[in-house]
Order: sequence, then structure tokens, then C-alpha cells
Amino acid sequence: MKKQKIKKYSLLKGFKDIVPEDQFYWNFVLDKLSKCADAYGFEKIDLPIVEEYGLFARSVGTDTDIVTKEMFAFETLGKEKVALRPEGTAGAVRAYVEHGMMNKRKPVKMYYEGPMFRYEKPQAGRFRQFHQFGCEVFGEDDPIVDAQIIYMCYQIFDELNIPIEIKINSIGCNTCRNHYLKALKLYLKKYKSKLCVDCNKRYNKNILRILDCKEKKCQEIVADAPQIVDHLCTDCNTHFVKTLEYLEESQIAYTLNPFIVRGLDYYNRTAFEIFCKEEDGSQSALGGGGRYDSLVRMLGGQKTPAIGFALGIERIVSRLRDMYEKTPADERKFEIPTSKTCDVFIAQLGDGARKKVLVLFEKIRREGFLVGESVSKTALKQQMEEADRLKAKMCLIVGQKEIMDDTILIRDMESGNQEIVPSGQILKVLRRRLDSLK
Ligand code: HAM
Repeated sequence: MKKQKIKKYSLLKGFKDIVPEDQFYWNFVLDKLSKCADAYGFEKIDLPIVEEYGLFARSVGTDTDIVTKEMFAFETLGKEKVALRPEGTAGAVRAYVEHGMMNKRKPVKMYYEGPMFRYEKPQAGRFRQFHQFGCEVFGEDDPIVDAQIIYMCYQIFDELNIPIEIKINSIGCNTCRNHYLKALKLYLKKYKSKLCVDCNKRYNKNILRILDCKEKKCQEIVADAPQIVDHLCTDCNTHFVKTLEYLEESQIAYTLNPFIVRGLDYYNRTAFEIFCKEEDGSQSALGGGGRYDSLVRMLGGQKTPAIGFALGIERIVSRLRDMYEKTPADERKFEIPTSKTCDVFIAQLGDGARKKVLVLFEKIRREGFLVGESVSKTALKQQMEEADRLKAKMCLIVGQKEIMDDTILIRDMESGNQEIVPSGQILKVLRRRLDSLK
């Protein structure tokens, strides 16, 4: 018979599995982030991964790279034009309007986490499916909220012991930005032929983004360009100054950067990004955010000021893991469990005992203990090796004799002390033994 060649499937470019060994770091980071968001008064919202294409096009901006080049957009069988979400803010605003959250006490604070999709050129730290943790505040335009959001981001990275730089800018409101764009256009006109191909397109469609082009020749040109902060109207200027005053007072490090303009169109006033230095000296953005006071109205809600940020989980996890593994154990500021452990391991010897362990395992698990087992193994030696691997504190051994006497042998894994306990008392004894180890 002709041997059939079996196709092996592999990951799509830009996609990644989060394998069990990575989950320890992921859980650690997500747990820290959600606890922090909870403490700052945010409530969790889960948003769909697929939404109407128009929601993202309208919010993020029809001329942005995200919408023109990077959207996973497709038509459903029902002929609806939909897209995999490239970010979370648009969905959060849609939900805010759709659920009538404007009637809630303000500010309304929500956080979300989950996968986002952008068809970008995959490279280190840049994926086509990546995860964000985002926080959004609706209904407040007071600059103390801008400062609090930036301060919260700073604290998150401080707690994770990841050194960062926060770069802040104000991109004003529609009115002052339009004045500024005229000045910028005038300045860039004489350099048009020297700008990169993309920036030549941006010149007509999205000129502000020339300011954060990564091409060296464009960066040299914009270095002397007029700065938006010099063109802010009185209200935007006061708002920015106040935001910075609050930050000064809270004594966190930040830098003003006139080139932070963000890649999404919905922003006004405060815009910021969080960077960390890579080993090769380059910088990568761990997060970014800003104010978007017109978006709720634009998506059919009442006029509602809003501000938020999102962090890139892959980049944070990779940074954290790198630093954690390089730091000697006694110098670490926190411990990240990197393997599974258990309080108590159940071992069995002989067929009769094996028949009892499924029920015994469940009885102990339901009492809240972390239980380990390897029911498929028969040799005690192998089972003890597994108990050691799981760093079990206690081991319960059930053999032929114990089945006949209706007892269980309990062994302290560190001291080796053993005790035979009537099965009816095992939970009580186990709790006492484990408590005495604390
Ligand atoms: P963003 O700057 O586009 O903002 O994304 C936030 C973060 O997501 C980035 O700083 C980066 O860490 C991560 N990220 C973005 N693209 C990728 C990628 N291809 N691969 C890996 N990580 C990536 C937003 O999305 C806004 N919605 C943030 C916001 C919330 N503004 C107000 N509220």
C-alpha cells in the first residue's frame, strides 16, 4: 500500500501558543494587573473579539495604519463586514453606549484583557495576535484623572520591578490641533522630497504621524519641526499644565516628548507611552494611552470625556521573565511560582487501594487542599518521585493493609514521620499537620 504523507500543521506567522511553562508568568502578570485595577476602582468587562468593521474604522481612524493595513477584516456568511478587534477601546466605548452606562454614577471605570489582532510584519515583540490589558475611565475630564492613570501605570511597572520611561505629550483639541497641523504642514513642505515613502503619504492623509516615524531621515527632519505644545489653546494648555503638576507632586519620573502622537485617531489632549530599553539599546513600547473626549459622542453616545491605556502583555511577560531568570534568587523582590506544587500527595499500592483513590482525591480536593496524584503509576518509588517533584508537604499512602483496617498512612515528607490514621479522621489530621507547618 502507498504510504500516505501526513501534513504537519504549524502556527501561522505572528501567532504564538502560550504553553504551560509560560502560564506561570502570564498568570502572575495578569493577577497583578487585575488586582491593581480592582484597587483603583475598575470593574471588569469582557468584550467580543469580533465586532462590526465600521466600529474600528470609525474609532481608530480610516487613514491609520491599523485600519488600512492591519485589520483582520472579513465578510461573514450572513454578509456582514466584521473585523477581529485590533484594540479594546472601541469595543469598550460601544459597550458603554449600548448598555446605557451614561446613567451610572461617574466616573465609570472598566478594565479588560484579551487577544487583539493586527496584521503587522511579525518581528521580536510584534505579533499578529497579542494580548492587551486595558483600563478606561468615562465621564471625567479633570486632569487629576489623567495624572492618576499615568501614576497607576508607573506603579504597575514599579511593582513588577520593570524599569520604564513614561513619555507624555498633549495633542490638544480639534481646534488647536488644526492650527498646529497648518504650521506643521508648512514646515514639512520644504522637506517633502526627503521624507520616506510612507511619510509622503502621511503628509496628505495623517500628517501628525510623521512625528513618530521610525525612519532616521524623517526623525532628523521632524527634530526641528514646530511643537504642538507651543500651539495649545488656553484650555488645553491649562489642562496639560495641571496634569503635569499633579505628576510632579506624586514624584514619579516622566519625560515630556513632543513626538508622542499615538497611532490611533481618537485621541485629544493627554497622550502617553511607556517604554523599556531593550538589550540592543532600542526601545519598545510596553503600553500607551491617552484621552479621547469625542469618541463616545462619535459612536452615538452623549458627550462624555474619557481616558484610558492599554499594556502589551507579551512584551511585559517577556521582560519580566528575562529579568526574573537573570536575578539571583536571594536578590529577587518577589517569588514567581514556576512549577506546580501540592499540599498533599496521594499514593496507592495494590489493586484494592487503587480503586479507592479517585474518591479519596476528590474528598480532599473539595476541602480546599491542593492535592497531587499519579493514579496511573503502580510502583511506590515512581509515585514518591512525583510527590517530590510537586514539593508535596504530606503524603497519604493507601495500601492493602490500610484498606483492610480502614486506615490511611500519613507521612511528613520533610521529616519522614509517619502516622496511621483512621480514614474518617484523615481530613482533621491533615489540616492539623499542615497548619503546624505554617
Ligand atoms: P496601542 O499603543 O496601539 O494602544 O497598544 C498598546 C500596547 O499594546 C502597545 O504599547 C504594545 O505594548 C501592545 N501592542 C500593540 N501592538 C502589538 C503587537 N503587534 N504585538 C505585541 N504587542 C503589541 C491601544 O491599543 C489603545 N487602545 C490604548 C488605549 C486604551 N488608549 C486609551 N485607552
